Amino acid sequence: MRITVLTPWEEHLFWIGILEDHAQFVLDHLGGEETTRAQQAEQFRTAFKALRRRLFSLDRTLPVNDPGLVQFAQEARSVAYAYYLFEGELQKNRIENTVTIQLTPAYFNGTLGENEEYLRILHSYGQGRDYQKLSLYRLLDMWLEDQLGHAVLLSDHLDPTELGYIDRSRRFIEAFQALALQETSQNRRNLNY
Ligand SMILES: [Fe+2]
Repeated sequence: MRITVLTPWEEHLFWIGILEDHAQFVLDHLGGEETTRAQQAEQFRTAFKALRRRLFSLDRTLPVNDPGLVQFAQEARSVAYAYYLFEGELQKNRIENTVTIQLTPAYFNGTLGENEEYLRILHSYGQGRDYQKLSLYRLLDMWLEDQLGHAVLLSDHLDPTELGYIDRSRRFIEAFQALALQETSQNRRNLNY
């Protein structure tokens, strides 16, 4: 089997697109009275869009230690980290019921987990070196939690008349939960807990 490894440029494109979507989701789910937070989310969305535009001005085959790409990673890191703090605060406020937002604390676990992974990558890219790949278990952990959050979000937004889709989305939720549990017990066995 041939494994294709993403170039640093492609990694940036992948993660910046994800974070831009996250800022959009926050915007879409904030209550009408949350004008300040909506403005902040909008600023982040614009900042990610600007980063993406700037990325397209760089050569997509640049090596990880290219000074232009290193500088880009440092810029992306400051925006991604500021957004991480913003979402973390939203999650805290949501738990304390001090924000009106139709996103759950569990949903934020998934988005914050993705952001953490990009920040980890950026830590290495910002020093001009490649990052240590996650183990398969940690990779599954992150993406299963993320997929579960997406499935819950979808199910929450379906019209009650959409019985077929509600049923299908519930089955996805159960499948992701079962896989996450399986993965946790497998991981525990491997770590000899
Ligand atoms: Fe996601």
